[in-house]
Amino acid sequence: MAQNEILFERAQKTIPGGVNSPVRAFRQVGGTPRFIQKALGPYFWDADGKKYIDLIMSWGPMIAGHAHPEVVEAVQKAAATGFSYGAPTLGEIELAERICELVPSIEQLRMVSSGTEATMSALRLARGFTGRDLIIKFEGCYHGHADSLLVKAGSGLLTFADSTQNAPSSSGVPQDVVKHTLVLPYNDSPALQEAFRRHGDAIAAVILEPIAGNMNLIRPATEFLTAVRNLTQQYGSVLIYDEVMTGFRVALGGAQSLQGITPDLTCLGKVMGGGMPMAAFGGKKDIMAKLAPLGNVYQAGTLSGNPVAVAAGLKTLEIISRAGFFDCLSTQTTKLMTGIKAVAQKHAIPLAVDSVGGMFGIYFASEVPTSYTAVTQTNLDQFKQFFHGMLNAGVYLAPSAYEAGFTSIAHDNAVIDEIVVATDKAMQTL
Ligand SMILES: Cc1ncc(COP(=O)(O)O)c(C=O)c1O
Repeated sequence: MAQNEILFERAQKTIPGGVNSPVRAFRQVGGTPRFIQKALGPYFWDADGKKYIDLIMSWGPMIAGHAHPEVVEAVQKAAATGFSYGAPTLGEIELAERICELVPSIEQLRMVSSGTEATMSALRLARGFTGRDLIIKFEGCYHGHADSLLVKAGSGLLTFADSTQNAPSSSGVPQDVVKHTLVLPYNDSPALQEAFRRHGDAIAAVILEPIAGNMNLIRPATEFLTAVRNLTQQYGSVLIYDEVMTGFRVALGGAQSLQGITPDLTCLGKVMGGGMPMAAFGGKKDIMAKLAPLGNVYQAGTLSGNPVAVAAGLKTLEIISRAGFFDCLSTQTTKLMTGIKAVAQKHAIPLAVDSVGGMFGIYFASEVPTSYTAVTQTNLDQFKQFFHGMLNAGVYLAPSAYEAGFTSIAHDNAVIDEIVVATDKAMQTL
């Protein structure tokens, strides 16, 4: 029996489903999850010693490549002086200052330990600031697993749950909690206008993934973003850009820098911690001033601003700020998509691709989808076969058709060529 199977059986005895986050369980694609023993650059190795090119990069954070020597050194240095103090540090100020420089809409920020905490806290803050209860989220956008956001959510919830009802996507979430959450279709400006016409004065916040990555990659239409910004401004609602995935991933300044939109609050995570548990939410000073200890919106965390995570984040932000980093990452990712698409064409398989910076989407459909409904209509059976073909050929894709993929600066030409060869092998079996 292979080590991955032995470990999976063992894991299931003490960990529900054998995994600590649902999508890792391979439920959509079937088969045995790979247990990873080490990673370096664009690669990781499973418990059987099989090497894979990684195309999820820890679901986004590892943009500089796994175990980047400079990040490892920074983490080792920080760890040698203690793991956590529960008191402020210079590193937190440096990280906050750097983030405010890179994302100018963030005038102040608060660090937390996960993206879930960031969005949950940003919503509480928006409600405290406006004195209103209603929030708007969009179908297929995932903002972490806080109760009020688990309605028609993407990511694992889109993969597993019956999200066809306008009800909580997870049991254990009271209807009373989600009754304050309005769910609208992504990219549907008239629906948004109508929601504001009816409820505008009661809407505390609109939260969105400015480029969705939890229902595969879906771009927003420009007129949709303009409607989101204009309506929130007009009705005094807080616009929350959830850039946990896109922040420092699609561009150095995040999706907002590409779109020319200034949100009121932004949530960050993933890349900003360089693979360590680290996230943040921040934005306009007058809104942030409502947070405890200045204001009466409570938010706290024992490990928030953890010095080891701060060291990893600071070094990662330094690396991605170097000249040419994002140009190179975008070029490589586009090259990869072009290569995969050409192989699909050779095999006469309908396949669409898209990418922004170091984030990409592969869709078994003839066109790039623009909505949650369109994504759920892509060819799931073909994706499953493709996933396993790629896995056998040594390329690790997200084990769900409803997730975006991620590259790193370590995915150089040679790595891309290897992926394209693997794609050719995998597509021969479809
Ligand atoms: C856009 C977005 N927001 C929030 C989250 C939640 O972050 P975390 O998993 O760190 O709680 C995620 C996670 O994938 C995400 O993609």
